[in-house]
Amino acid sequence: MDDSPRQKTLLLTGASRGIGHATVKTFSAAGWRVLTCSRQPFDDRCPWPGGEGNHVQIDLADPNNTIAALEAIRDKLGGTLDALVNNAGISPKGQDGARLNTLDTDLRTWGHVFHVNFFAPVVLARGLKTELAAAKGAVVNVTSIAGSRVHPFAGAAYATSKAALVALTREMAHDFGPLGVRVNAIAPGEIETSILSPGTDKIVETLPLRRLGQPAEVADVILFLCSSASTYVTGTEIEVNAGQHV
Ligand SMILES: NC(=O)c1ccc[n+]([C@@H]2O[C@H](COP(=O)([O-])OP(=O)(O)OC[C@H]3O[C@@H](n4cnc5c(N)ncnc54)[C@H](OP(=O)(O)O)[C@@H]3O)[C@@H](O)[C@H]2O)c1
Repeated sequence: MDDSPRQKTLLLTGASRGIGHATVKTFSAAGWRVLTCSRQPFDDRCPWPGGEGNHVQIDLADPNNTIAALEAIRDKLGGTLDALVNNAGISPKGQDGARLNTLDTDLRTWGHVFHVNFFAPVVLARGLKTELAAAKGAVVNVTSIAGSRVHPFAGAAYATSKAALVALTREMAHDFGPLGVRVNAIAPGEIETSILSPGTDKIVETLPLRRLGQPAEVADVILFLCSSASTYVTGTEIEVNAGQHV
Protein backbone atom coordinates (compact mmCIF):
# COMPACT_ATOMS: atom_id res chain seq x y z
CA MET A 1 0.00 0.00 0.00
CA ASP A 2 1.27 3.49 -0.85
CA ASP A 3 1.31 5.56 2.36
CA SER A 4 3.29 8.52 0.93
CA PRO A 5 1.46 11.84 1.46
CA ARG A 6 -0.92 12.86 -1.36
CA GLN A 7 0.48 15.63 -3.58
CA LYS A 8 -1.55 18.82 -3.04
CA THR A 9 -3.08 20.70 -5.96
CA LEU A 10 -3.46 24.45 -6.48
CA LEU A 11 -5.66 26.09 -9.11
CA LEU A 12 -4.28 29.55 -9.81
CA THR A 13 -5.67 32.26 -12.07
CA GLY A 14 -3.42 34.90 -13.66
CA ALA A 15 -0.42 32.59 -13.58
CA SER A 16 1.33 34.01 -16.63
CA ARG A 17 2.95 37.09 -15.11
CA GLY A 18 3.76 39.01 -11.95
CA ILE A 19 2.43 37.73 -8.62
CA GLY A 20 0.84 34.69 -10.28
CA HIS A 21 4.09 33.63 -11.93
CA ALA A 22 5.92 33.88 -8.59
CA THR A 23 3.11 31.90 -6.93
CA VAL A 24 3.54 28.99 -9.36
CA LYS A 25 7.24 28.89 -8.58
CA THR A 26 6.72 29.06 -4.79
CA PHE A 27 4.07 26.31 -4.69
CA SER A 28 5.99 24.08 -7.14
CA ALA A 29 9.11 24.41 -4.96
CA ALA A 30 6.96 23.38 -1.97
CA GLY A 31 5.95 20.18 -3.83
CA TRP A 32 2.47 21.22 -5.03
CA ARG A 33 0.96 20.43 -8.42
CA VAL A 34 -0.17 23.74 -9.93
CA LEU A 35 -3.00 24.10 -12.45
CA THR A 36 -2.62 27.43 -14.19
CA CYS A 37 -5.20 29.59 -15.98
CA SER A 38 -4.76 32.52 -18.31
CA ARG A 39 -6.06 33.78 -21.63
CA GLN A 40 -2.98 32.52 -23.48
CA PRO A 41 -2.03 28.93 -24.29
CA PHE A 42 0.79 27.51 -22.14
CA ASP A 43 4.11 29.19 -22.88
CA ASP A 44 7.02 26.73 -23.23
CA ARG A 45 9.34 29.23 -21.57
CA CYS A 46 7.56 28.73 -18.22
CA PRO A 47 10.08 26.98 -16.01
CA TRP A 48 7.87 24.49 -14.15
CA PRO A 49 7.27 20.76 -14.69
CA GLY A 50 4.10 19.39 -16.32
CA GLY A 51 3.05 22.90 -17.28
CA GLU A 52 1.21 22.24 -20.53
CA GLY A 53 -0.94 19.38 -19.16
CA ASN A 54 -1.74 21.51 -16.11
CA HIS A 55 -2.79 24.61 -18.04
CA VAL A 56 -6.36 25.73 -18.80
CA GLN A 57 -6.95 28.55 -21.26
CA ILE A 58 -9.81 30.76 -20.00
CA ASP A 59 -10.95 34.30 -20.60
CA LEU A 60 -12.23 35.18 -17.12
CA ALA A 61 -13.90 38.29 -18.54
CA ASP A 62 -16.40 35.98 -20.25
CA PRO A 63 -18.68 34.25 -17.71
CA ASN A 64 -19.86 31.61 -20.22
CA ASN A 65 -16.26 30.75 -21.05
CA THR A 66 -15.42 30.51 -17.33
CA ILE A 67 -18.44 28.30 -16.56
CA ALA A 68 -17.61 26.08 -19.56
CA ALA A 69 -13.98 25.71 -18.39
CA LEU A 70 -15.12 24.19 -15.07
CA GLU A 71 -15.58 20.80 -16.70
CA ALA A 72 -12.03 20.73 -18.07
CA ILE A 73 -10.73 21.84 -14.66
CA ARG A 74 -12.69 19.11 -12.84
CA ASP A 75 -11.31 16.50 -15.25
CA LYS A 76 -7.77 17.60 -14.46
CA LEU A 77 -8.42 17.64 -10.70
CA GLY A 78 -9.79 14.13 -10.29
CA GLY A 79 -11.93 14.93 -7.24
CA THR A 80 -9.86 17.10 -4.88
CA LEU A 81 -8.66 20.70 -4.85
CA ASP A 82 -6.45 21.84 -1.95
CA ALA A 83 -6.27 25.52 -2.90
CA LEU A 84 -7.91 27.98 -5.26
CA VAL A 85 -6.07 31.29 -5.64
CA ASN A 86 -8.08 33.97 -7.42
CA ASN A 87 -5.18 36.17 -8.50
CA ALA A 88 -6.03 37.37 -12.03
CA GLY A 89 -6.91 41.03 -12.04
CA ILE A 90 -7.11 43.99 -14.40
CA SER A 91 -6.77 47.69 -13.73
CA PRO A 92 -7.63 49.69 -16.85
CA LYS A 93 -6.22 53.19 -17.27
CA GLY A 94 -7.31 56.20 -19.29
CA GLN A 95 -5.24 58.01 -21.90
CA ASP A 96 -1.55 58.33 -20.96
CA GLY A 97 -2.15 56.14 -17.92
CA ALA A 98 -4.71 58.51 -16.36
CA ARG A 99 -6.79 57.29 -13.42
CA LEU A 100 -10.36 56.39 -14.47
CA ASN A 101 -12.62 57.83 -11.79
CA THR A 102 -16.31 57.41 -10.94
CA LEU A 103 -17.27 60.24 -13.32
CA ASP A 104 -15.48 59.01 -16.44
CA THR A 105 -15.42 55.18 -16.30
CA ASP A 106 -17.83 53.84 -18.89
CA LEU A 107 -20.15 51.06 -17.76
CA ARG A 108 -18.76 48.54 -20.24
CA THR A 109 -15.25 48.94 -18.77
CA TRP A 110 -16.67 48.76 -15.25
CA GLY A 111 -18.50 45.51 -16.06
CA HIS A 112 -15.41 44.01 -17.73
CA VAL A 113 -13.34 44.71 -14.60
CA PHE A 114 -16.01 43.16 -12.36
CA HIS A 115 -16.17 39.99 -14.48
CA VAL A 116 -12.43 39.36 -14.18
CA ASN A 117 -11.80 40.66 -10.65
CA PHE A 118 -15.04 39.68 -8.90
CA PHE A 119 -17.43 37.33 -10.73
CA ALA A 120 -14.75 34.88 -11.92
CA PRO A 121 -13.79 34.09 -8.29
CA VAL A 122 -17.49 33.46 -7.52
CA VAL A 123 -17.89 31.11 -10.49
CA LEU A 124 -14.69 29.16 -9.79
CA ALA A 125 -15.19 28.76 -6.04
CA ARG A 126 -18.85 27.73 -6.35
CA GLY A 127 -18.16 25.48 -9.32
CA LEU A 128 -15.36 23.66 -7.47
CA LYS A 129 -16.91 23.52 -3.99
CA THR A 130 -17.19 19.72 -4.01
CA GLU A 131 -13.48 19.32 -4.84
CA LEU A 132 -12.50 22.00 -2.28
CA ALA A 133 -14.63 20.35 0.41
CA ALA A 134 -13.18 16.90 -0.40
CA ALA A 135 -9.68 18.25 0.32
CA LYS A 136 -10.69 20.57 3.21
CA GLY A 137 -9.08 23.17 0.98
CA ALA A 138 -8.43 26.90 1.08
CA VAL A 139 -9.41 29.82 -1.14
CA VAL A 140 -7.26 32.95 -1.35
CA ASN A 141 -8.65 36.03 -3.08
CA VAL A 142 -6.07 38.62 -4.15
CA THR A 143 -7.50 42.02 -3.26
CA SER A 144 -5.58 45.35 -3.07
CA ILE A 145 -4.79 48.34 -0.89
CA ALA A 146 -6.99 50.19 -3.41
CA GLY A 147 -10.03 48.31 -2.07
CA SER A 148 -9.94 50.27 1.18
CA ARG A 149 -8.81 53.79 0.15
CA VAL A 150 -8.58 56.06 -2.90
CA HIS A 151 -5.31 55.31 -4.69
CA PRO A 152 -3.61 57.85 -6.97
CA PHE A 153 -3.37 55.44 -9.93
CA ALA A 154 -5.89 52.63 -9.41
CA GLY A 155 -9.24 53.49 -11.01
CA ALA A 156 -12.71 53.43 -9.47
CA ALA A 157 -13.80 50.23 -11.24
CA TYR A 158 -10.71 48.42 -9.98
CA ALA A 159 -11.04 49.80 -6.43
CA THR A 160 -14.72 48.93 -6.13
CA SER A 161 -14.14 45.43 -7.55
CA LYS A 162 -11.47 44.83 -4.89
CA ALA A 163 -13.72 46.19 -2.11
CA ALA A 164 -16.41 43.79 -3.34
CA LEU A 165 -13.87 40.95 -3.32
CA VAL A 166 -13.12 41.64 0.37
CA ALA A 167 -16.85 41.44 1.11
CA LEU A 168 -17.05 38.24 -0.95
CA THR A 169 -14.20 36.78 1.14
CA ARG A 170 -16.19 37.42 4.31
CA GLU A 171 -19.41 35.97 2.84
CA MET A 172 -17.63 32.92 1.45
CA ALA A 173 -15.79 32.28 4.72
CA HIS A 174 -19.22 32.12 6.36
CA ASP A 175 -20.77 29.86 3.72
CA PHE A 176 -17.82 27.57 2.91
CA GLY A 177 -16.69 27.16 6.55
CA PRO A 178 -19.17 24.37 7.33
CA LEU A 179 -17.71 22.47 4.33
CA GLY A 180 -14.28 22.67 5.99
CA VAL A 181 -13.05 25.19 3.42
CA ARG A 182 -11.18 28.31 4.59
CA VAL A 183 -11.48 31.57 2.61
CA ASN A 184 -9.05 34.47 3.08
CA ALA A 185 -7.73 37.44 1.15
CA ILE A 186 -4.37 39.11 0.74
CA ALA A 187 -4.15 42.80 -0.13
CA PRO A 188 -0.88 43.73 -1.85
CA GLY A 189 0.37 47.31 -1.90
CA GLU A 190 3.06 48.31 -4.42
CA ILE A 191 4.52 45.11 -5.90
CA GLU A 192 7.01 45.17 -8.77
CA THR A 193 4.89 43.90 -11.72
CA SER A 194 3.53 45.27 -15.00
CA ILE A 195 0.34 46.50 -13.26
CA LEU A 196 2.25 49.42 -11.64
CA SER A 197 1.99 52.96 -13.02
CA PRO A 198 4.78 55.48 -13.60
CA GLY A 199 5.09 57.58 -10.43
CA THR A 200 4.88 54.61 -8.04
CA ASP A 201 8.42 55.46 -6.88
CA LYS A 202 6.96 58.58 -5.20
CA ILE A 203 4.55 56.42 -3.18
CA VAL A 204 7.34 54.03 -2.25
CA GLU A 205 9.38 56.88 -0.71
CA THR A 206 6.60 57.30 1.88
CA LEU A 207 6.19 53.63 2.87
CA PRO A 208 7.48 52.60 6.31
CA LEU A 209 9.74 49.98 4.70
CA ARG A 210 10.74 52.41 1.85
CA ARG A 211 10.77 49.82 -0.95
CA LEU A 212 8.66 48.05 -3.56
CA GLY A 213 7.51 44.53 -2.78
CA GLN A 214 8.65 41.55 -4.82
CA PRO A 215 6.09 39.08 -6.25
CA ALA A 216 7.77 36.24 -4.34
CA GLU A 217 7.07 38.04 -1.04
CA VAL A 218 3.36 37.99 -1.87
CA ALA A 219 3.52 34.35 -2.97
CA ASP A 220 4.96 33.39 0.43
CA VAL A 221 1.89 34.83 2.21
CA ILE A 222 -0.44 33.02 -0.20
CA LEU A 223 1.37 29.75 0.57
CA PHE A 224 0.98 30.42 4.31
CA LEU A 225 -2.79 30.83 3.88
CA CYS A 226 -3.01 27.55 1.93
CA SER A 227 -0.80 25.58 4.32
CA SER A 228 -1.22 23.70 7.59
CA ALA A 229 0.33 26.75 9.32
CA SER A 230 -3.02 28.60 9.04
CA THR A 231 -5.69 25.93 9.68
CA TYR A 232 -7.66 28.15 12.13
CA VAL A 233 -7.54 31.29 9.93
CA THR A 234 -10.56 32.16 7.80
CA GLY A 235 -12.47 35.27 6.72
CA THR A 236 -9.46 37.57 7.08
CA GLU A 237 -7.48 39.87 4.79
CA ILE A 238 -3.71 40.13 5.23
CA GLU A 239 -2.04 43.38 4.13
CA VAL A 240 1.20 42.76 2.19
CA ASN A 241 2.30 46.33 1.69
CA ALA A 242 5.36 47.46 3.68
CA GLY A 243 3.04 49.23 6.13
CA GLN A 244 1.26 51.37 3.49
CA HIS A 245 -2.01 51.05 5.46
CA VAL A 246 -0.73 52.48 8.74
N1 LIG B 1 1.30 44.56 -8.55
C1 LIG B 1 0.74 45.22 -7.57
O1 LIG B 1 1.34 46.17 -7.04
C2 LIG B 1 -0.62 44.84 -7.04
C3 LIG B 1 -1.14 45.61 -5.99
C4 LIG B 1 -2.38 45.27 -5.46
C5 LIG B 1 -3.08 44.19 -5.97
N2 LIG B 1 -2.56 43.48 -7.01
C6 LIG B 1 -3.36 42.36 -7.51
O2 LIG B 1 -2.55 41.20 -7.64
C7 LIG B 1 -3.05 40.39 -8.71
C8 LIG B 1 -1.92 40.09 -9.66
O3 LIG B 1 -1.40 41.33 -10.11
P1 LIG B 1 -0.08 41.46 -10.98
O4 LIG B 1 0.49 42.79 -10.64
O5 LIG B 1 0.74 40.24 -10.88
O6 LIG B 1 -0.78 41.58 -12.42
P2 LIG B 1 -0.22 41.39 -13.89
O7 LIG B 1 1.27 41.27 -13.89
O8 LIG B 1 -0.86 42.45 -14.71
O9 LIG B 1 -0.87 39.95 -14.26
C9 LIG B 1 -2.26 39.82 -14.35
C10 LIG B 1 -2.62 38.38 -14.62
O10 LIG B 1 -4.04 38.29 -14.79
C11 LIG B 1 -4.32 37.56 -15.98
N3 LIG B 1 -5.55 38.02 -16.62
C12 LIG B 1 -5.88 39.31 -16.91
N4 LIG B 1 -7.06 39.33 -17.55
C13 LIG B 1 -7.47 38.05 -17.65
C14 LIG B 1 -8.62 37.42 -18.22
N5 LIG B 1 -9.60 38.14 -18.83
N6 LIG B 1 -8.72 36.07 -18.17
C15 LIG B 1 -7.75 35.34 -17.59
N7 LIG B 1 -6.65 35.87 -17.02
C16 LIG B 1 -6.51 37.20 -17.07
C17 LIG B 1 -3.11 37.79 -16.88
O11 LIG B 1 -2.98 36.72 -17.76
P3 LIG B 1 -3.02 36.84 -19.37
O12 LIG B 1 -2.88 38.29 -19.73
O13 LIG B 1 -1.88 35.98 -19.81
O14 LIG B 1 -4.33 36.26 -19.74
C18 LIG B 1 -1.96 37.84 -15.87
O15 LIG B 1 -1.49 36.54 -15.62
C19 LIG B 1 -4.19 41.17 -9.35
O16 LIG B 1 -5.43 40.73 -8.83
C20 LIG B 1 -3.94 42.60 -8.90
O17 LIG B 1 -5.11 43.37 -8.84
C21 LIG B 1 -1.34 43.77 -7.56
